[in-house]
Amino acid sequence: MAGQQKGKIIILVMLAVSFGILAFGFLFSSSDSKMAPNQPLNFPKLPADTNIATLKGISLGRTLFQDPGLSADRSVSCASCHKNENAYSDPGIIFSKGSDTVHAARNTPALMNLQWKKSYFADARAHLLSQTVANAIQSPVEMASSIPVVLARLNKSDSYKKQFQKVFGTEEITEERLMKVFKDYLETLVTSNSRYDAYSRQESLNYTLEEHRGLTLFRQKCSPCHAGELFTDESLRNAGTGTTADQGRGTLTKKAEDMGKFKVPSLRNIGLSSPYMHDGRFTTLAQVLEHYSNGINQTKGLDSALYTNGKAGIPLNSTEKKQLLAFLNTLTDPIFIRQGNY
Ligand code: HEC
Ligand code: HEC
Repeated sequence: MAGQQKGKIIILVMLAVSFGILAFGFLFSSSDSKMAPNQPLNFPKLPADTNIATLKGISLGRTLFQDPGLSADRSVSCASCHKNENAYSDPGIIFSKGSDTVHAARNTPALMNLQWKKSYFADARAHLLSQTVANAIQSPVEMASSIPVVLARLNKSDSYKKQFQKVFGTEEITEERLMKVFKDYLETLVTSNSRYDAYSRQESLNYTLEEHRGLTLFRQKCSPCHAGELFTDESLRNAGTGTTADQGRGTLTKKAEDMGKFKVPSLRNIGLSSPYMHDGRFTTLAQVLEHYSNGINQTKGLDSALYTNGKAGIPLNSTEKKQLLAFLNTLTDPIFIRQGNY
């Protein structure tokens, strides 16, 4: 009898607690709850200036990211070029279509883990996320508009005024507010749930022998540049891909030592973001591996990590190529690419 009584009391207490949690959750969702920044366990520590975002701020940032009304002819949004299901790259397109008939000057990169980056773009010309937003809006080969035009359009929209009011308390839409909600949203693009992550965090030892061999090869041959959990050391390197049309950092600075240098890209979700390199010259990862193995010429300024026994290139036999490919495909994050739909 006493045991049954005790059981009943425990059940009642449990019901009361779960009701309390539900009510608490509801209170929070009806106000604008703050979002704790996402810090994956295997990643470097978040920079101290990481935004504290709110749910409504993030949601408004996402709406703006998907709104073609930000481009001059209202035909392209950020999401037209940066597609969620392809890790925010533009699959199969060498140079994405911008406003009107123009095309971007470089291959559209995947967007990810942006708050950990020290600089943005293939030539590292930006250091703040707000500069990447301003660049996209103003660039004549992307949205071909301007901040004042975008602000004027948004300030004419009752729906946007209402949404900005919900986030900031008053309805005016300023450049600072626009940049804040974009940053809120862009910093949610954290990808950390690939099979590699599960392996790295030792949540599951799910690698096949081939994938494991690929990882070992990768650490020997590719990690000098595609380093650590973010798969980039954030440096600019000459990987033998410069062309007359685009010398990367060198085109920007005109300095001899910068010629042919491009930002080392992350390789997370690489299986989803073909074509590859700043100019989209390769369609498949097999072609990229062939480039490293046999396609690199001994040019002036070529990075020393790309020499093997005094010869340009990283020689790979066909088994090694297969193992590397198998490993690279474990960097795909199935949760990340469904993120836009929640
Ligand atoms: C016409 C296609 C296009 C549109 C539209 C576009 N982008 Fe991009 N985006 C690119 C290209 C191409 C690059 C690379 C440019 C370079 O490296 O010089 C890029 C680079 C970026 C980067 C830097 C990524 C990195 O890792 O360095 C961010 C962030 C970004 N875009 C965000 C946005 C946002 C936000 C919008 C909307 C306001 C937007 N983009 C609209 C094509 C586009
Ligand atoms: C010396 C530094 C360095 C080493 C070593 C290196 N890479 Fe790269 N990698 C780069 C740079 C820089 C780029 C960007 C070049 C460009 O955009 O033109 C790049 C681009 C790539 C890309 C295309 C990424 C994209 O989004 O378009 C892949 C894939 C890649 N590397 C894989 C590898 C693999 C696999 C290895 C080892 C076999 C390796 N890299 C070794 C510096 C390096």
